[in-house]
Amino acid sequence: MSAFSDGLMADRTVFVAGGTSGINLGIARRFAELGARVAVAGRDPDKAAAAAGSIGAGALGLSADVRDYAAIRAVMERVAGELGPLDVVVSGAAGNFLAPAAQMSANAFRTVVDIDLNGTFNVFRGCYDLLRTPGASLIAITAGQAVNATPLQAHACAAKAGINQLVRVLAMEWGPDVRVNAISPGPISGTEGMARLAPDESAREEYYARIPMKRWGEVEEVAEAAIFLSSPSAGYVSGAILDVDGGSQLGDASRTSVRKGLA
Ligand code: HXC
Ligand code: NAP
Repeated sequence: MSAFSDGLMADRTVFVAGGTSGINLGIARRFAELGARVAVAGRDPDKAAAAAGSIGAGALGLSADVRDYAAIRAVMERVAGELGPLDVVVSGAAGNFLAPAAQMSANAFRTVVDIDLNGTFNVFRGCYDLLRTPGASLIAITAGQAVNATPLQAHACAAKAGINQLVRVLAMEWGPDVRVNAISPGPISGTEGMARLAPDESAREEYYARIPMKRWGEVEEVAEAAIFLSSPSAGYVSGAILDVDGGSQLGDASRTSVRKGLA
């Protein structure tokens, strides 16, 4: 169910870093459905080409590692050259795995921070002079782990916390011409992220119990938030971290049903 009408994103150019699968691909698809010219990028060129094919005619699927500033900059120059100045840039590339900090190598920690946090700086810094302004919308994809300390997630918690603060600083420096926001998804069905964080049914049930909405979210629900943040309806929204998480950020709701039973 969507409140947005066809053509809302017509004549806009949208680039999604890490847009070749999962949540970010869903975001790219929704922009294309609403009329935008769309490009996505990931490391794997075959996956990028397949993603572009699934988005539709005219979509670009390019290959670059967000840890490599020159490479991601070159991709965004190409997108701006072929599709026009960038109206919306989404930074969603991420890496994650469960690992206890005491056994995590320095390279393992660095790798996740490098992809998520440094990658987001590289994408946003690299697109800055390619944006169509005023009116450009930058969106980082963060997570609740930015705020909630989570065991086995030292790397991702640190990286996503850094992203939240980077978004706030860029919103201050780059306003009024550019709005900079983040979306913080909760657990989203059918994604690589949740396959890694909740690999079995008991872990999944534990998640459901804690979420006020008692379910995981859908990719499409995150995509709707990205459209909102890039629409005229969000013209005065900058520096926000928008939780799309069924209330997960509020804390552990697993005792709700017990309380209801007592009432
Ligand atoms: C411990 C691990 C590990 C694991 C890798 N490493 N996997 N350590 N447990 N399961 C260590 C390696 O041993 C190595 O350290 C270092 O991490 C780098 O590993 P590489 O394989 O060389 O890195 P690279 O090829 O760059 O791949 C990056 C990756 C990989 C993050 C490790 O998993 C990846 O490409 N992931 C992308 C897809 C993904 O993760 N999607 C989910 C994102 S969603 P040493 O010391 O041996 O050299 C998500 C969801 C929830 O984030 C949100 C919460 C924040
Ligand atoms: P995913 O399917 O694994 O998507 C990750 C994307 O990033 C892929 O396109 C991947 O393509 C690309 N990527 C990874 N490393 C890269 C690099 N170094 N350079 C360029 N591209 C890279 O993940 P997802 O589960 O949908 O998650 C998407 C985003 O949502 C992430 O930012 C994640 O932290 C966030 N999030 C997810 C959840 C969830 O429930 N899944 C919850 C909260 C937040 P290649 O592998 O080809 O590079």
